[in-house]
Amino acid sequence: MANSIYKRVLLKLSGEALAGKDGSGINTEVLHQIANDIKDAHSLGVQIGLVVGGGNIFRGVAASVKGMDRASSDYMGMLATCINSLALQDALENLHLDTRVQTAIEMSEIAEPYIRRKAIRHLEKGRIVIFAAGTGNPYFTTDTAAALRAMEINAEVIIKATKVDGIYDKDPAKFSDAKKYDEITYIEVLNKGLQVMDSTAISLCMDNRLPIITFNLTQKGNIARVIKGDTIGTIVRS
Ligand code: GTP
Repeated sequence: MANSIYKRVLLKLSGEALAGKDGSGINTEVLHQIANDIKDAHSLGVQIGLVVGGGNIFRGVAASVKGMDRASSDYMGMLATCINSLALQDALENLHLDTRVQTAIEMSEIAEPYIRRKAIRHLEKGRIVIFAAGTGNPYFTTDTAAALRAMEINAEVIIKATKVDGIYDKDPAKFSDAKKYDEITYIEVLNKGLQVMDSTAISLCMDNRLPIITFNLTQKGNIARVIKGDTIGTIVRS
C-alpha cells in the first residue's frame, strides 16, 4: 500500500536509540523493533536515506571535554556510526529489505564509499541507503551530516527520531508546565537555544528550506505515521 506523502526522506536516528534501556551498546531487541518500524514506513512507498549517530558507543564531544584531542575523539565517534550502520543494515536485511551502506571515510573492504549519484540510484531502486561516518570531518555532528546528506539526495524532509514526542519550550522531564510546539521556525529554535539539532545543522536546514520533523521513536509505528503525514511531533520550518 503506497500512501506516503513524501517521495524521499532522510531519517536521523541517535546512536542512543539503539541502546534502549541498556544506556550504551546495541540492544538487539530494540534494533529489531526499529528495523521493523523502518520496514513498515518503507512499505508505504517512500525512499529512505538513513543517518545514525554513534553516542551509544562513543561520544566525541564528551571525550574532548575530558581532555582528549577533539579531532581524534570525533574520528572515533565517526567509526562508532559505522558500527551502528552495519548493525542496522544487518537488521534490515534480516527483514528482506535491500540496503547499501556508504561511508564518508573510505573503508572499502567494509562498505561502499559515499558517492552522491550512486546513493540516489540506490534510492531510486528502492534500497535503503545508510550514510555512515558522519560528514567525514571532525567538528561536525551527525545531525549536520543528516542535514547535508538530506540536501544532497534532495530529500523533502529530515525526520529526526528522539525520545520525546516533539519540541518543548523547556525540558518536559523536569517541568510539568512545559509547552509542546506543533510547529516552530528555525530562527525561533536558534534564538531560544532549543535542543533540536546543533546550530550548524539547523542553519543548514534554514538556508536551504529543508523542514525537520521531530517525533518520539519509542512509540511503535511512529515512523510510518510521520511518512503518512499524521501530525505527530513538531515540525521546524520557516
Ligand atoms: P546497481 O548495479 O546499480 O544495481 O548497484 P549495486 O550496488 O547492486 O551494484 P554494485 O556492483 O555496485 O554492488 C554490488 C554489491 O557490492 C553491493 O552489495 C554493494 O554494496 C557492494 N559494493 C559496491 N561497492 C563496494 C565497495 O567499494 N566496498 C564494499 N565493501 N562493497 C561494495
